[in-house]
Amino acid sequence: AHQWRGVLPEYADRLNISDATPIITLGEGGTPLIEAKALSARTGARVFVKYEGMNPTGSFKDRGMTMAISKAVEHGAKAVICASTGNTSASAAAYATHAGISAAVLIPEGKISMGKLSQAVAHNAEIIQIEGNFDDCLDIARDLAANYPVHLVNSVNPDRIEGQKTAAYEVVEVLQDAPDFHFVPVGNAGNYTAYFRGYSEELERGAATKLPRMFGFQAAGSAPIVLGHPVKNPETIASAIRIGNPASWEFALGARDTSNGYFGAIDDAGILAAQRILSAEVGIFVEPASAISVAGLLERAENGHIPSGSTVVLTVTGHGLKDPLWALKKADGTEIAPTVVPVSTEEVAGVLGLVKGASH
Ligand code: F0G
Repeated sequence: AHQWRGVLPEYADRLNISDATPIITLGEGGTPLIEAKALSARTGARVFVKYEGMNPTGSFKDRGMTMAISKAVEHGAKAVICASTGNTSASAAAYATHAGISAAVLIPEGKISMGKLSQAVAHNAEIIQIEGNFDDCLDIARDLAANYPVHLVNSVNPDRIEGQKTAAYEVVEVLQDAPDFHFVPVGNAGNYTAYFRGYSEELERGAATKLPRMFGFQAAGSAPIVLGHPVKNPETIASAIRIGNPASWEFALGARDTSNGYFGAIDDAGILAAQRILSAEVGIFVEPASAISVAGLLERAENGHIPSGSTVVLTVTGHGLKDPLWALKKADGTEIAPTVVPVSTEEVAGVLGLVKGASH
């Protein structure tokens, strides 16, 4: 039986690699594009979800990391470094370990989810918490890479974008064209940029007849692109996209203009409501940052900006198990706990409201 081989082998002829490039892969990519009937019913569009939580470390970062680590090893790097809100650090740690090199990760103190931190620990990264935010971490990581013998694997490294663009290839392969709209969460705007690049290549080689309109969404408390200026103290419960000065800002604006795209903001309550809709109505569990794609679609559709019958793809970037505690809270903040009963079939039936002997 055929096993998906990872994005470098699958797309070797379309990526910046050669026979000299070692292939460091954990089998990333090839993620499902899932038709979301409940979201189609809510919006009148035909909605598909690109479920990037299905990657080896649970986020889309693995697509870029297989490329960045493979190229780093090709160039003889023995150590890589990144700044991260969590997912990049988990991915860098896993791929560096797989390659037999070391990874150092800089994270904002107290601001990454326990799931992601535990991945970086499990994969044996050197973890340093900075008393600052992600933007401070990235400044230091860039400074270190410029002046010390460490290789930077943040998305300012073009190899990352090169790997991540493969997600757009996969969408076009399944839909046999680009969608009309593509929604992505935006932090550093690297992934927005990567999808735009992937779709542009598909258009150029004739696999797609159009570019999708690229719709990016930021958390309202961390929305520099929407506001048009950096945010000094970004805040949001969607810790993955708690970023005040995106590295790929300029490129993303170009991609927005070329694709007739859009950047919008969603507040934390809207993010959590969308996370719940996706998990409880579609059956896909994502971390809060990822749910902003869903929230963005609902907002745009509600305000009449999505013509009915449009094909829409939502990238959901990270698995729900990355940061699961939000799912256990109600909208008013109270904890959700399952009902406890004694060891008794009748008690369980009673709680479930089941009537003995009645038909199914
Ligand atoms: N969604 C998730 C789950 C993320 O982890 C990130 C970025 C994004 C969306 C935004 O992607 O930065 O390319 O616009 N996480 C980075 C990290 C910053 O360190 O893991 P972007």
